[in-house]
Amino acid sequence: METRPQGGRKGPPPRDVPPVVGLLLSMALMNALLYLCLDWLFISPRRSTEDPTRCPYGHFRMGLTSNCSPWLSCEQLRTEVRQMKRVGEGAVKRVFLSEWKERKVALSRLTRLEVRDDFLHGLRMLKSLQSEHVVTLLGYCEDDNSILTEYHPLGSLSSLEATLNLSKYRSTNTWQHRLQLALGYVAIIDFLHRSPLGTLVMCDSSDLPKTLSQYLLTANFSIVLNDLDALPLVNRSTGALVKCGHRELRGDFVAPEQLWPYGEDVPFHDDLMPAYDEKIDIWKIPDVSSFLLGHVEGSDMVRFHLFDIHKACKSQTPAERPTAQDVLDTYQKVLNLLRDTVTSQTREML
Ligand SMILES: Nc1ncnc2c1ncn2[C@@H]1O[C@H](COP(=O)(O)OP(=O)(O)O)[C@@H](O)[C@H]1O
Ligand SMILES: [Mg+2]
Repeated sequence: METRPQGGRKGPPPRDVPPVVGLLLSMALMNALLYLCLDWLFISPRRSTEDPTRCPYGHFRMGLTSNCSPWLSCEQLRTEVRQMKRVGEGAVKRVFLSEWKERKVALSRLTRLEVRDDFLHGLRMLKSLQSEHVVTLLGYCEDDNSILTEYHPLGSLSSLEATLNLSKYRSTNTWQHRLQLALGYVAIIDFLHRSPLGTLVMCDSSDLPKTLSQYLLTANFSIVLNDLDALPLVNRSTGALVKCGHRELRGDFVAPEQLWPYGEDVPFHDDLMPAYDEKIDIWKIPDVSSFLLGHVEGSDMVRFHLFDIHKACKSQTPAERPTAQDVLDTYQKVLNLLRDTVTSQTREML
């Protein structure tokens, strides 16, 4: 609001206030009031969307009750964290369940120096993108190539089916919870595409199992992004597109524009491979969502309602695919619609 009036202009007050000056003064007062109202209308809602439970940059909170603490330093990581058993490993990180101040935490260590750039890129992203959609960073040490994050005992989405089959979680294995997970997944893609750093593409997703391994299931059944090692930036204004790695990709899971376009007779050459944009993530949504929906009572009914939006996600032409925000809106509408239908059916039965 650049035109906001500057109050308190200095000068001697007039002894007799002529009617025209009085009129001007009352107009100025009205203006000030109007600006106050506009300020309240347009600024307050924006302020209210900020999550008051989040800590300032460089700090973390474990659980809702504790205070914000600064990220742990190299010294603290070396002396205060006790490494226990290995819980996961990918191409870049080896992850250990560890203990810090009697709490379970996850310590990730670089697997080999050749992938240190990816590791450091992931760390930079983790620092910049802390939000409800991303695993909480607790500390890091670049000298030791280690990162400390919140530990999620339910592990990655790869083990979703096994987790939901445990008797403890069987009541959660419903189409409602599973659609909610799909919503959470698309919300993360939407967050990346409209991130504070710009449009980021989730490149570490060349097949379904790999894609699932990058996300963690939290204890309250939401999804957080854990592996941020391959998030290149699309810059529309400079025309900068991205490529996910330097090797040839194959199969139906990746978007058609990620495949070598010159046929079997021309050998793959990275320099000749055309770049692409964030719409490769949209292509993959139906497959990931379908996995998340699984095969429980009601899953197929949800799939039926998502048919049109998923068909649009699978448009051969990237520009014809919807945005992540469009997909998210549709998922939300379907969830609301089906919830209302179930509620009214239940009422009729009573
Ligand atoms: N904070 C965590 N809590 C629980 N399990 C984790 C955590 N971080 C990683 N893991 C496990 O380790 C695996 C590998 O982690 P990831 O960050 O994807 O490594 P990479 O970068 O090498 O692919 C994950 O798929 C998951 O199973
Ligand atoms: Mg990974």
